[in-house]
Amino acid sequence: MDKEMKKETILVVDDTPANLEILLRVFQIEGYKVRAVTSGPMGIRAAGNDPPDIILLDVSMPEMNGYETCKILKKNEALKNIPVIFISALTETFDKVTAFESGGVDYITKPIQIEEALARVKTHLALRKYQFLLEEKNRELSETIDHLKEAQSQLINSEKMASLGVLTAGIAHEINNPISFIYTSSLGLSKDIAFFLDMQKKYEDAFQKCDQPLMQEINEYKQDYDFDERFAELSQLSENIITGAKRISGIVQSLRLFSRIDEADLKEIDLVENIESTILLLHHKISNKINVVREYGTIPPVPCFPAKISQVFMNVLSNAIEAIEEKHPMTDNEQIVIVTKLIKRKDVPYVNIEISDTGKGIPEKVMNHIFDPFFTTKPVGKGMGLGLSITNNIIKEHGGVIEASAIENQGTTFRILLPIRNTEIKL
Ligand SMILES: Nc1ncnc2c1ncn2[C@@H]1O[C@H](COP(=O)(O)OP(=O)(O)O)[C@@H](O)[C@H]1O
Ligand SMILES: [Mg+2]
Repeated sequence: MDKEMKKETILVVDDTPANLEILLRVFQIEGYKVRAVTSGPMGIRAAGNDPPDIILLDVSMPEMNGYETCKILKKNEALKNIPVIFISALTETFDKVTAFESGGVDYITKPIQIEEALARVKTHLALRKYQFLLEEKNRELSETIDHLKEAQSQLINSEKMASLGVLTAGIAHEINNPISFIYTSSLGLSKDIAFFLDMQKKYEDAFQKCDQPLMQEINEYKQDYDFDERFAELSQLSENIITGAKRISGIVQSLRLFSRIDEADLKEIDLVENIESTILLLHHKISNKINVVREYGTIPPVPCFPAKISQVFMNVLSNAIEAIEEKHPMTDNEQIVIVTKLIKRKDVPYVNIEISDTGKGIPEKVMNHIFDPFFTTKPVGKGMGLGLSITNNIIKEHGGVIEASAIENQGTTFRILLPIRNTEIKL
């Protein structure tokens, strides 16, 4: 018998003290914990108080026989899986069918053959252990299936994102032409307006000199129609159109960068441009509650899959914004600081991007799990818990490193290192 088996508990139910004594001694010598009772009702009570691993149950007992006792045990949700082995004298009329029907798994006969009793108990305890293991594995499997289902829905989602990317790229491309048309035209319009206003001034001066009555009439007309106000408004209006057009161009440009469809090849890109377009797309979430501080040091172009890297910045920046929103209390000085610089680690040069926030920080016990798929501390519907695990995969795919450090209720810093191609760059 191995050590593990010997710790298991056996409940013996038998009304013959001599039998009990033998069984107690034998199993105790083998190292099992043995409890003994002398009637069916006592057996049911003893099992209910402290469920054993196996029950040896005498068939023939005066108050309640073994079959009845067994049936009652099997009706109890907490006890029904405990294996029951019947004990029966060979001389008795032992009904095997009733024994199995009432829920027994096996039987031994009196006079008890010690070796046989031990072997049967051992076998059924082992079976029960495997049953436990199987149940556990089943639970794990069904959890894995749940996760797989979620991952599948995420995949479907990313498929949708991919087609959304194509759509966005298309729209951005289409809007780009008319918006630059509007922008250039409004610049021209603004110049023309300035010219016409100048001309109008010259006419006025001329009339002033040679045709006083007409000038009088013009002045009255100007007063009636708030000419001076309209005059001042004109240049403001054309400036607004230009500002609006510039802003739309910026957004369109960001959308084009963000939706780049670039699975196939690594491209050397300007990461700052990528970060800036992500910030522009997150503008509505940052608004004026959070100050974005840029500390961009000079960095070389980085070989990467641009859309994936955009996704990294989108995930890390969104988390930073959410961590600030979740902080209590949020102050007027909340900020996100973005630092870019070149560094060397173990003699290998990397572009180092740090994104720090003044959010709620990450407790130590949470820190070990933030990169795990499906890990989230956010309420259902807000976080899927996939952002950082996807981010981590993307960074690894680029041969890079992502690390986090945090102080609770003060903030978090994510550091991303991406390798660069040109190893001759001087640091
Ligand atoms: N900047 C941050 N500040 C505080 N906690 C963070 C930050 N970034 C990530 N976390 C923690 O890591 C968890 C996992 O993040 P993520 O994988 O993006 O999933 P989600 O944002 O959907 O919860 C978050 O739920 C949060 O607890
Ligand atoms: Mg997230």
